[in-house]
Amino acid sequence: MAVAFLNGEFLPLEKARISPMDRGFLFGDGIYEVVPTLATRPVGLRGHLERLDNGLCALGIHNPKSADQWETLIAELLRKNSEELVSHSVGVYIQVSRGTVMQRAHGFPDNIPPTVFAFAFATAAPPLPDRSKVTPFSVITEQDRRWQRCNIKSTSLLGNVLHFQQSKIAGKQEVILYNDKEQITEASACNVFAVVQGHIVTPPLDHQILPGITRDIVIKSLSRDGIAVEERPLTLAELKGADEVWLTSSSKEVAPVTYVDDKPIANGEVGAVWQQAIESFNRYKFDL
Ligand code: PDD
Repeated sequence: MAVAFLNGEFLPLEKARISPMDRGFLFGDGIYEVVPTLATRPVGLRGHLERLDNGLCALGIHNPKSADQWETLIAELLRKNSEELVSHSVGVYIQVSRGTVMQRAHGFPDNIPPTVFAFAFATAAPPLPDRSKVTPFSVITEQDRRWQRCNIKSTSLLGNVLHFQQSKIAGKQEVILYNDKEQITEASACNVFAVVQGHIVTPPLDHQILPGITRDIVIKSLSRDGIAVEERPLTLAELKGADEVWLTSSSKEVAPVTYVDDKPIANGEVGAVWQQAIESFNRYKFDL
């Protein structure tokens, strides 16, 4: 039986209930995190908890727990789900919404306790760290139609959901987004990297993209191995003409992309730089 955490208690996931007057439900007024774990060891935990705190701060929601308390909650949730989730790769979803009030009004209500919800779920196995065996992604591209504060990991995900759905309809695994200057922002649920004329490039952190924890671990891991990543604007034309394209996220780690809009990236094979990147990532992912 899957066990969830809701407002201070552990209970069967299927019994968890919140009010329809919760502002998370009415306004998408909340923050979420997905913390990946491998054999119960979290990856990037400090970064995930810092980003959760930053997001709550940006929305003016009080963070109801300290980093230590979140860590204890995650460990407890994994323990309580250990029979249900025998999978090696488990994601922990955490959501904090502004809370419940019996009147629908846009303005923030005063002094209401946030709603805290968490559950654990099995995720796909990490990519095989072998360029001849890993399953590559095929993606489409679209102009980014989301809001102007994509650095906040808000539960208002409709923009992302609508973009992702277009890739699903096209029979692909993701959609890479670009702004009105034809600069890449990110994908609907991943960050983007490309190898352009031998240089690893990823769009810089600003309001247009989520500061991905996996993105950060990839940059730091490569740097430890003496390989630099350029954080600079990346154009759609550069992406399409790149030697390699990768997507990063907590559930996908570093996923190679070999087709963009039905055209091969370089020769359509997974590249040698991806191989280096996944090896660096695997070397340091529990330390960073
Ligand atoms: N998605 N960009 C967006 C829009 C995302 O939703 C995500 C994560 C990322 C990658 O961030 P990280 O490396 O911290 O997972 C980038 C999560 C996994 C999700 O919504 O399920």
